[in-house]
Amino acid sequence: MSEPEGAEVVRLPAGDPLPDWVARLDRTAFGAAWKAPAAHEALWLIPEVAFARWSRVPAAGEAELLRIAVDPAHRGRGLGRRLLEACQRELEAEGLVHLFLEVRVSNAAAIQLYRTCGWKPCGRRPAYYPDGEDAALFQRVP
Ligand SMILES: CC(C)(COP(=O)(O)OP(=O)(O)OC[C@H]1O[C@@H](n2cnc3c(N)ncnc32)[C@H](O)[C@@H]1OP(=O)(O)O)[C@@H](O)C(=O)NCCC(=O)NCCS
Repeated sequence: MSEPEGAEVVRLPAGDPLPDWVARLDRTAFGAAWKAPAAHEALWLIPEVAFARWSRVPAAGEAELLRIAVDPAHRGRGLGRRLLEACQRELEAEGLVHLFLEVRVSNAAAIQLYRTCGWKPCGRRPAYYPDGEDAALFQRVP
């Protein structure tokens, strides 16, 4: 694989099937792969190494980050930040300026990424995950 650090962030064209590597990384990072994006969803990719999946509500100017993952062999090199910042720029350019997400309270890497990309804590959902862990809620308003 060529070095991904300089690779472009690209958006999966609407209606395209989910690339196999996204499903593999989805299973690696979250234990189960989701299907191809629904009409209201959008996926941004750093090909072969990272993806971010969003749910969009254009009428409300909102979007929710559903999943973001970087291949374990390429974590800690700034790819997650580059991907998230690119998504934020494109969503905000489309007028989706109210961004939300939830994350396990134990997920230090993700929480650090969100904080340093301008996200602020805005709540907590007790025992939100099936194993009883709380979710921390974050929002980003530019
Ligand atoms: C969360 C994730 C996407 C971060 O991607 P990444 O490419 O490793 O992150 P980056 O290299 O861009 O680092 C972004 C920030 O997070 C910090 N960070 C990265 N890994 C970290 C770790 N293990 N512990 C604490 N902070 C960490 C970095 O230091 C950096 O902050 P800094 O610039 O202030 O130092 C990646 O760890 C991942 O895929 N995790 C599994 C899936 C997941 O949990 N996704 C989030 C829930 S949807």
